[in-house]
Amino acid sequence: MINGEKVLDHPIRWAMVGGGRGSQIGYIHRSAALRDRSFELVAGAFDINPERGKDFGIQLGVNPDRCYPDYKTMLAEEAKRGDDKIEAVTIAVPNGLHYEVCKAVLEAGFHAVCEKPLCFTTEQAEELVHLADSKGLVVGVTYGYSGHQLIEQARQMVLHGDLGEIRLVKMQFPFGAYNTPVEETNSAARWRMDPTKAGPSFVLGDVGTHPLFLAETMVPDFEIESLMCTTKSFIPTRKLEDNAFVIMNLKGGAQATCWASAINCGALHGQKVRIVGSKASVEWYDERPNQLTYEIEGEPVRILERGGAYLYPSARAEDRISGGHTEGLFDAWSNLYRRFAIAMEKANKGEKVDFWYPDVHAGAEGVKWVEKCVESAKKGAVWVKY
Ligand code: NAI
Repeated sequence: MINGEKVLDHPIRWAMVGGGRGSQIGYIHRSAALRDRSFELVAGAFDINPERGKDFGIQLGVNPDRCYPDYKTMLAEEAKRGDDKIEAVTIAVPNGLHYEVCKAVLEAGFHAVCEKPLCFTTEQAEELVHLADSKGLVVGVTYGYSGHQLIEQARQMVLHGDLGEIRLVKMQFPFGAYNTPVEETNSAARWRMDPTKAGPSFVLGDVGTHPLFLAETMVPDFEIESLMCTTKSFIPTRKLEDNAFVIMNLKGGAQATCWASAINCGALHGQKVRIVGSKASVEWYDERPNQLTYEIEGEPVRILERGGAYLYPSARAEDRISGGHTEGLFDAWSNLYRRFAIAMEKANKGEKVDFWYPDVHAGAEGVKWVEKCVESAKKGAVWVKY
């Protein structure tokens, strides 16, 4: 059970690039990082508009001198500081900036937490993997719900053979809110439809990579052998797909599917992962994150509740309150940031990290998956080797 006692020698001195006033995702980063006193927000280049960014930083309690007009100035100025310089930087800007900012952060010798997608191409991803590994730096990628305890429970059930041999993995993240050209009036939607800012895909990268990483976490030997993808833009003015279906053959014989969509009218998120084994299945749904459905063939359906005494111990280790009370996205993110912080401290001490978290390799895998899906779709929905 997490109760707020400190887990690090000192909080990691932390900065943000992006995540400014009005951004969609900035607050959950701060809420997660600051919750367990593992990070302390000491600097930032929070906004594309420097004045607004500075004003916002001051409102967050950051020293005005350390509210920088842009990330390059921030990295240069922080590098000149003594023992109080930043140690880690979160990158919460639109996709097109992830690669250059993450690279600059690593080159400056700081740990990074980067939003997905990590970058646009496998070449870029390999460069970031090499930089992080060679410098002994941590890159955490915010696949937020992977920090939820019932994802760990599913992982343990798969590892313990409770489901038998894994046969099928069914993933989906089909939301409905972009079923009209919302990008005409919504700036956060606009950059997501622009290939120069969003990358080679919209829904595959924006939402499809989330259940992909959940599935990779739940099924530890999840490894794609080949895939086939078809995409379509139902809103004709869009340059990127707003719906995609992917079929995958996995090494070892299992098969998987993923449906990513922005035009699934009426659906809020609809993010689900169902793992089908030879004995039983589990299903997790992000709109009811505290319940994991466990279906054994021939028996009544069981609902495993977060916090239940019957769960595997590692699925209870990050509870913040007993079962029955709701935990959700904010708590899962806090669990992830806690792991990032512990990984960073271990890296600083030259110690091995002996637990999983969405790291630079997970980020690179998401980039490769999007790239392969786009390749298949562009060739007319053909099978491509992974
Ligand atoms: P947004 O458009 O709402 O906000 C972007 C923020 O970045 C704004 O504050 C903007 O001023 C700032 N910004 C833009 N360029 C900048 C620059 N050069 N320097 C400093 N700040 C700059 O975008 P949103 O929705 O918050 O997305 C940001 C990132 O987070 C994206 O990569 C997106 O894919 C990711 N995201 C991840 C989610 C998750 O569950 N992990 C959920 C939503 C978004």
